[in-house]
Amino acid sequence: MTVGKETFRGPAKPVGSNWILMKHTLHRIGLIAFTVVASLRASAQTPSPSQAGTAALTRFDDRVDALLKQMTLEEKVGQLVQFSNGKATGPENVQVDQNDLLAKGGIGSILNATGAKEVNAMQRVAVDKSRLKIPLLMGLDVIHGYRTTFPVPLGLAATWDPALVEQTARVAAVEATSEGIRWTFAPMVDIARDPRWGRIMEGNGEDTYLGEVFAAAYVRGFQGKDLSDPTSLLACAKHYVAYGGAEAGREYNSVDMSERMLRDVYLPPFKAAADAGAATFMSAFNTLSGVPTSANHFTLTTVLRDEWAYKGFVVSDWTSIAELIPHGIALDGKTAARKGFLAGVDMDMQANLYAMHLPELVRSGKVSEAALDESVRRVLRTKFALGLFEKPYTEEALSASVQLKPDHIALARKAAEESFVLLKNERSKPIESAPLLPLSEGKTVALIGPLADDADDMLGEWACKGEKKDVITLRTSLTEKIKDKLIYVKGTDVLGSAETGFEEAIAAANKADVVIMAMGEHRRMSGEAASRSRIELPGNQLALVKAVAATGKPVVLVVFSGRPLALAWEAANVAAIVQAWHPGVQAGPALVRTLFGDAAPSGKLTVTFPRSLGQVPIYYNHLKTGRPIGGEDDDKKDDGFRYQSRYLDEKNSPLFPFGWGLTYTTFEYSPTAIGSAAKSMSIAELEKGAKIAVEATVTNKGSRAGTEIAQLYIRQRGTSVARPIRELKGFEKFTLPPGESRTVKFEIGKEQLAFWNIDMKHAVEAAELTVWVAPNAAGGKPTTLMLTD
Ligand code: NOJ
Repeated sequence: MTVGKETFRGPAKPVGSNWILMKHTLHRIGLIAFTVVASLRASAQTPSPSQAGTAALTRFDDRVDALLKQMTLEEKVGQLVQFSNGKATGPENVQVDQNDLLAKGGIGSILNATGAKEVNAMQRVAVDKSRLKIPLLMGLDVIHGYRTTFPVPLGLAATWDPALVEQTARVAAVEATSEGIRWTFAPMVDIARDPRWGRIMEGNGEDTYLGEVFAAAYVRGFQGKDLSDPTSLLACAKHYVAYGGAEAGREYNSVDMSERMLRDVYLPPFKAAADAGAATFMSAFNTLSGVPTSANHFTLTTVLRDEWAYKGFVVSDWTSIAELIPHGIALDGKTAARKGFLAGVDMDMQANLYAMHLPELVRSGKVSEAALDESVRRVLRTKFALGLFEKPYTEEALSASVQLKPDHIALARKAAEESFVLLKNERSKPIESAPLLPLSEGKTVALIGPLADDADDMLGEWACKGEKKDVITLRTSLTEKIKDKLIYVKGTDVLGSAETGFEEAIAAANKADVVIMAMGEHRRMSGEAASRSRIELPGNQLALVKAVAATGKPVVLVVFSGRPLALAWEAANVAAIVQAWHPGVQAGPALVRTLFGDAAPSGKLTVTFPRSLGQVPIYYNHLKTGRPIGGEDDDKKDDGFRYQSRYLDEKNSPLFPFGWGLTYTTFEYSPTAIGSAAKSMSIAELEKGAKIAVEATVTNKGSRAGTEIAQLYIRQRGTSVARPIRELKGFEKFTLPPGESRTVKFEIGKEQLAFWNIDMKHAVEAAELTVWVAPNAAGGKPTTLMLTD
């Protein structure tokens, strides 16, 4: 029997009377259909009209066109101009007289305004003073919470719980809109395969399928049921596109990839966001195969407009129109404005180049007025849809009753608990009868580490309006729990080199029964402009871990980071490791409940953890090569033969694979079975909608209930192009009492099997299909069948 809370998989069937079935369809460039089965409590998942995509935005076009007819050229261009009101995230912080411009209708959107009072003041100028009274669209980076700060997105993704993620986005929207913010620059749906890249923290990890699922969840959460609802926050799918492919993981760096890779791996999460109704997209900073993505006609127009029929608008990233000059495809601002605009960027964030040059470019015929009108139309649509013309102002007293509400805090704790990934949990000594975690009460605990009592870093980068004082640290919660049985020593700094605190830390460990070490990165070490060329624990933290471990006391290592760190020594020498990301305001309570077993970890990795930096980029869905080690690229079967795809000094396998995560019980998987008798299926049948039923039985072998995330992987061979060694195509999260089993069932149809083939067609081909229902990307017992012509 399932006592679980929610399941998510593609495609699935209802599994019991207390379950409701809701269908969401993600259209890939071909078609991807998947089904969400969610519990009744996941009410935020109710399908909304926006899920039809962005076509619904055009229902305001009569009003838009009537307004357009009254606009001067300068007023039209004004709608495509965005300036920051506050802190800059880029090199150019253009100073203009914003009030004057606003009064002339010269600004369409402001970002970084905070507080309803400030928003209303600017809105008043736009609405009362400008000729056509067009309201402003107020934008802000509301990424993982507004005031109530949730775990960073990479941590949220580790929950594998789109309904939960949707709820966090809804809460963020409710809090942000109470202060007049109606547009967030999120979700970031960039696929990231390189932990050097600091922005890996802002996305959902390395997998395309999960990227699609979470993209849609965020959009539903931010935008809510209808854009006209005052709590609806426009979503912005960013950074379009392939920004996460930055060479060497260096921020803002160039990207070069095949169109097949782009379409198979990097584009689908954007398509999913568009299909979920994301009203805006953001063009990126990077070049893509030589063409800057903020002047890339192929991605911005051919794909987004012509293929996907996208009706929302595209904003540039911060000054990325101006950056066409350093990229080298424009020698002056006028050319940059022309190239960015003609490629398909509707709104210019902060570069001031559209304002300066678009009117003249239209007058001289270099840009057609029809093209300008179309961009303005896209922007105005969203303003009508949000109801801004009817209600431009925000009730200034509202915010106080909305921020940090108890149910928001409760959600923050739940999200943090579900985001933790138990990487390792072993007996601390052979004589111990059980793994180190969960800890039993009554023990003296030494809490050591620079992040044990650091409220600021718990917030994570992009904490928006989150404040240190909102955070409960691990030290505070642990003190509350075990009182004088806690000995706390900081030991070192995150980036320290001084070893002066080591002695006290070692003494504390010696006095304790068990040691908890709170180590990792500052929040500012991930996120934008935070690439690292070393991905071990920073500073001298590893030296401190080694010194403490040398006492022989059992050590639980809690790692706070916005990226996978290389933890090879730790994994070999420490009994338990909890990957805690940057968990948000409820860091302490969530961790203490987890460490003492009031909650059990259930998160699984959505990025591969390397053994060492030299393996990077390392990701589970790689191609096999012509010379795989062990015949299957399997370290366990490696015969050491030299002329195979390998390192001389490192294994090929990761330290912890994609999908990895333990809990306080263990699950056993039966071999994967094909549901029907058929051991082959024809493409014609698949085209007619036939599905391949796949299942495995998962049994809780331990003595306590546990939550598991069963994962569906496929592999295809014999195809016109090489396919990944495994690809995730579905998952199901469920809770099982001890001793009980659950048969996990999936269906595979043409949507899961199609890929961009040798002719660059998205199609299903005859192939040998291998299928796993598995606990992670390196586990499971597969079965095989044939797809025939
Ligand atoms: C630059 C970042 O790349 C982008 O993600 C963000 O939304 C903008 N700055 C605005 O702050």
